[in-house]
Amino acid sequence: MAAKILMVCLGNICRSPLAEGILRAKLPAGSTVDSAGTSNYHIGETPDRRSVATAKKHGLDISKQRGRQVTVADFEEFDVIYAMDRSNMANLLALAPDDTARKKVKLILDELPNSPETDVPDPYYGGNDGFELVYQMLDEACETIARRYQ
Ligand code: 4NP
Repeated sequence: MAAKILMVCLGNICRSPLAEGILRAKLPAGSTVDSAGTSNYHIGETPDRRSVATAKKHGLDISKQRGRQVTVADFEEFDVIYAMDRSNMANLLALAPDDTARKKVKLILDELPNSPETDVPDPYYGGNDGFELVYQMLDEACETIARRYQ
């Protein structure tokens, strides 16, 4: 069955748009990959220019994405919902309507059992280095996810 995967962070302008672009490029055609934010801060906006630039450096165009807020319907639509950090995870679990929905929510770095980190760090208030680090973490996690759907 084709994958239907949703990437979630707080603003849907820094981490989850990168995660969406990275995973889409690794999955077979016909897969569904989307991203959303737990907050309503950046609805309709393009990803942060630093995320767009980092993606471009690695050959990905994420500039057409637009921010949106996660909804209860997403728990029906997607098979797996990846939270970028534990705060996103707590917000998703609070929104999930039932046990089936709660079981779909995972921390993305749990895909990397040897990772010393639990959370993809929020790069919003930092410099460009933070975005490259986020890219590297997400690229490794998405590689593991994509292997499952080959
Ligand atoms: P993101 O980063 O959750 O990775 O998209 C953030 C973007 C915006 C804000 C916080 C985090 N903000 O507070 O506006």
